[in-house]
Amino acid sequence: MQPDNNPNDNIQIHDLHFTSLLSEAEVQKRVQELGAVLTERYAGQNPLFISILSGAFVFASDLMRAFKGNCEVGFVKLASYAGTRSSGSIQTVMGIEKNLRGRHVIVVEDIVDTGRTLHFFLNQLQIQEPASICTVSILRKPEAAAFPVQIDYVGFDIEDKFVVGYGLDYEGLGRNLPGIYQLQENIA
Ligand code: XMP
Ligand code: MG
Repeated sequence: MQPDNNPNDNIQIHDLHFTSLLSEAEVQKRVQELGAVLTERYAGQNPLFISILSGAFVFASDLMRAFKGNCEVGFVKLASYAGTRSSGSIQTVMGIEKNLRGRHVIVVEDIVDTGRTLHFFLNQLQIQEPASICTVSILRKPEAAAFPVQIDYVGFDIEDKFVVGYGLDYEGLGRNLPGIYQLQENIA
């Protein structure tokens, strides 16, 4: 078992410096709360969690284990990011193999930044006529919102700064950090 993050922890990934934003304990507490809310809402309904890869796999794995009752999981891979900036276009790299018609779908995201990714994916999802769709994201950057998307359950609203950890990466690294770290700007 790893010790809780020191809130003053600074880390370096490649060329960038990050500072602790949310400790492992804070993240886990919130995930349990969200799991409890979903457990109540979907009692007896066998919902399908759809995790958007890659970043959301860590959150989805914790969230579905915080869900008490029958549930299933599926994965889609969308790509929009290069380095620390969201690129303009979204691609479906891997689609979902399950039949979604009539299913209660819980879309699990790691972070909603501009909203472009989720906006794109929800449009695709609607076509498959699920019985219901709800959206959950562990992080949201409200200042960055550019696309109209409803996020039913948000873990934490954060500043519009690049973050890593808990599934989120900078150039491939940082996904295994149990807490969440924010980019330190203007550091010498
Ligand atoms: P949009 O702008 O489409 O962005 O809402 C959502 C996707 O972009 C990635 N993203 C980030 N990844 N740190 C990351 O490691 C961040 O601060 C960040 N902001 C957005 C992420 O993959 C998300 O699904
Ligand atoms: Mg990424």
